[in-house]
Amino acid sequence: MTSSVPGEFVRQLSAALEEADMLMRQQISNGAEWVSRFRATLDSFVDSPVTATLHNKPTATANAWLRDALASLDGSTEFVSAVQAAANAANWYQIYNVDAAESGAMRSNMHALAEGMFAAQVIGPRGLIPSKKLLTGLFLLRAGLHYPLHQHEATEIYFCASGKLRIQHGIDTPPQQLIPGQFSLTPSNRLHSLTMGDAPVLLLYIWLGEFGGKNWWWHKDDNGVWQREAWERQPDAVWAKTITEVVPYSELILANKDK
Ligand SMILES: [Fe+2]
Repeated sequence: MTSSVPGEFVRQLSAALEEADMLMRQQISNGAEWVSRFRATLDSFVDSPVTATLHNKPTATANAWLRDALASLDGSTEFVSAVQAAANAANWYQIYNVDAAESGAMRSNMHALAEGMFAAQVIGPRGLIPSKKLLTGLFLLRAGLHYPLHQHEATEIYFCASGKLRIQHGIDTPPQQLIPGQFSLTPSNRLHSLTMGDAPVLLLYIWLGEFGGKNWWWHKDDNGVWQREAWERQPDAVWAKTITEVVPYSELILANKDK
């Protein structure tokens, strides 16, 4: 029997995770158990029926990055075909919505950042197979983009399909390079940032756990004080900013302990 596009995507992603190197393995407690849980969840969707057909192309600019990234995919023939098919069939959207009320330098920084990140859900509330327990799909990032320190409740895997990036966990831990065929596992609420190399990056993302919580972005202000802002997922899957606050001391202590 031939699998559907999302069915083949999760089958190939699960197989790739079995083969791949996990970055920072020694720093993640229960890493192997987590990977087994991710793989079992992916595998449980192989034969699920496709019920959504909505599909938007990325913007023309992002489509050029996507073409570059797809042209240099690394992996088995089956893996490459599955990722290409998912990229063609899924519904692409810009992940972050810049608040129209934002002004000045912050607004233009946010625009540059927001316009550098696109996603296509394969499985999830807006995916080709709707689900509330698994979120997986493609995450496309502009070359050179820095996605600042952030944290969220879901536990996350990023499988690198194309391009190179550096991923950092916590405030003081040095970043590590993630290359095609490797993946990172980010535990629930662990602070992390991504810095793309000189080519567009295509990640295959997987989220398990709480999808609806806040995504907190951290930055140090001009006085050296850590601030954070909350982004919350809207019904259309795009994130919008809802809170800005000084990082609570207890959170700062936890972030410094992230190793
Ligand atoms: Fe993340």
